[in-house]
Amino acid sequence: MPIANGFLRIDQLDQEYFYDLEVAHCTDCGMVQLVNRVEPTMMFHDNYAFFSSTSQYMVQHFKSFADSILHDFLPHDPFVVEIGSNDGILLRNFAQRGIRHLGVEPSRNVAAVAEASGINTISSFFNEDCAAKIVEGSGQADALLGANVMCHIEDLHSVMAGAKMLLKPGGVLVFEDPYLGDIVEKTSYDQIYDEHVFYFSVASLQNLAAMHDLEIFDVAPQAVHGGSMRYFIGHRGARQPSSRVDEQREREARLGLELPGTFVDLRRRIEASRAHLVSLLRDLRARGKRVAGYGATSKSTTILNYGGIGPDLIEFISDITPTKQGKLSPGVHIPVRPHAEFQARYPDYAVLFAWNHSREILAKEGAFMQSGGRFIVHVPEVQILEPVAA
Ligand code: TYD
Repeated sequence: MPIANGFLRIDQLDQEYFYDLEVAHCTDCGMVQLVNRVEPTMMFHDNYAFFSSTSQYMVQHFKSFADSILHDFLPHDPFVVEIGSNDGILLRNFAQRGIRHLGVEPSRNVAAVAEASGINTISSFFNEDCAAKIVEGSGQADALLGANVMCHIEDLHSVMAGAKMLLKPGGVLVFEDPYLGDIVEKTSYDQIYDEHVFYFSVASLQNLAAMHDLEIFDVAPQAVHGGSMRYFIGHRGARQPSSRVDEQREREARLGLELPGTFVDLRRRIEASRAHLVSLLRDLRARGKRVAGYGATSKSTTILNYGGIGPDLIEFISDITPTKQGKLSPGVHIPVRPHAEFQARYPDYAVLFAWNHSREILAKEGAFMQSGGRFIVHVPEVQILEPVAA
């Protein structure tokens, strides 16, 4: 597999990096994680392609995330730290209210966007050392936040030790990441790629938290990123755990998330999904149909490379992110084009690689569907979406 966000120019093709993508389930601690390590600086660097604020829905999601933290947890004159603050999509909601805040973001290009809009940001990986420096310079924090970042960090123990050190006695660590239960239920295997080192469940995170004298006191499922879980963690014994934690554990038991057989079955369903998608695309090609991709997501890198799907089956991928446009998709080298090109000459079919944004995208692509264009999705199963009758 190539780097999932490694969109590249033609002159970079000979330097492209590949590694073996393998995922495993630990029967001791319940963690599902990648087996092989990709050097973090290969993924998060000064040309990081992913900007959080490309989705209006996500902008709204992070505003309500910030509002709930503010309402439920923050005392007078709080200090909020965010791990992996990207372009400031979450922290801006605190900055705009004059709340003391600090973003910790290793990819300097996205950090610069946040800085330019007045969000205090340091360019660094969050770990124990970084936490110690923050405590020294600014004191302990009331809230340490993260969205789609914890599952990226290989040295989770250093992050948890850093959280333990950084948080005030009543402080909270709140983060959300794609949820293993959703991946198993929806066969959303495209969540598996280099940046996602871990696929969390409540059970596996409870084990991890306990190792650092921390405790999950609440959980809240989220619709974003194809199904995520928000975890609320505090110092052990500092807060009364909500019944939602045990309820979610019961759901995990019903899904068999701690049983190896669950993952054997998941693998079988993934293979069937791949075969279905590839045969559909080949069939459309044989019938002379034009097929594009919609959303040059990291997830699409897994689908395309795992399925061996290249420019012979998908003409181009439409994406609104300027840094991805004009580049080639990782590994299979499908051109990424601006959305205007999609609109100028609609294809017959568009594979919705950004299926996690389907509500937002279907709402704005009425003209594509009215022109006879159809979206193809692969989650929870491969199908062509028919427009809903008015
Ligand atoms: P995202 O869903 O966050 O996926 P991943 O985490 O797998 O990279 O990324 C969405 C991508 O889709 C991003 O490159 C922007 C693009 N996009 C569009 O091109 N049009 C849209 O309307 C939306 C919402 C996203």
